[in-house]
Amino acid sequence: MTVAIRQIHPVFVGEVSGLDIARPLSPEDVTAIDAGMDRYAVLVFHDQTITDEQQMAFTRQLGPLENARGGNITKPEDRRLTVGMNDVSNLGKDGGLLERDSRQRAFNIGNMLWHSDSSYRVIPAKYSLLSARVVNPKGGNTEYADMRAAYDALDAATRAEIEDLVCEHSLMYSRGSLGMLDYSEEERAMFRPVRQRLVRTHPVTGRRSLYLSSHAGAIVGMPMPEARILLRELTEHATQPKFVYIHRWRPWDLVIWDNRQMMHRVRRYDERQPRDMRRTTVAGDAVTTLQV
Ligand SMILES: [Fe+2]
Repeated sequence: MTVAIRQIHPVFVGEVSGLDIARPLSPEDVTAIDAGMDRYAVLVFHDQTITDEQQMAFTRQLGPLENARGGNITKPEDRRLTVGMNDVSNLGKDGGLLERDSRQRAFNIGNMLWHSDSSYRVIPAKYSLLSARVVNPKGGNTEYADMRAAYDALDAATRAEIEDLVCEHSLMYSRGSLGMLDYSEEERAMFRPVRQRLVRTHPVTGRRSLYLSSHAGAIVGMPMPEARILLRELTEHATQPKFVYIHRWRPWDLVIWDNRQMMHRVRRYDERQPRDMRRTTVAGDAVTTLQV
């Protein structure tokens, strides 16, 4: 079988056929996926029945796995999944639903804000791969917004204004906007803000994109309220329906997205029923700006 990709949204998103990701990829398959990612930025695969090990093996063929340390408040002994897998379900270690007032669940609700995975890391993530194991019966769509198209649609004055701006990103900004303001000293150190350029250039295609994320809570050299209003305005612009693809999950779908050029969010769902989604992450390979 040969890999084929069909664009399923006016500005981005490809649907892939002709590939069984549970099996090792040929070099040509890897090239086709990377080229598809560069062009469409989101790739959708259907009917990929995989184990965690197969998901990690598939991911490693696209690049090294990101070290997930420092990305959550869940303690290692409370993890449900093996190291290398990011648990974005509503389930606890025992496989049961998280309690409504659990801090872990509150933290995960932050994924319902528009964001780019790991933008709070000095070297942010390249690709995320999300596999749907148990689909929630109500809601839980994932939405993707194309930050390249959003950048292209800015007027010249705004482009000039934001060209060299540098933002500060932290999980405490995104969770703080939801009212989660209490962190231990250890967590504060772990979630220390990092700097990211507001405008990125794709290393292969040269396309520019807005690097927005709910983790961004400040702009270097700008008073915070002014920075937050600018970020909010840019986010409203960038998430207009014409730039957004809504993915309605079927069991065993797998979606890959390029965090360097996309934002995404999950929509609300029925928290009394399971939603078992498992993510692997391909590490990025470069900083976007110097840290201080
Ligand atoms: Fe995410």
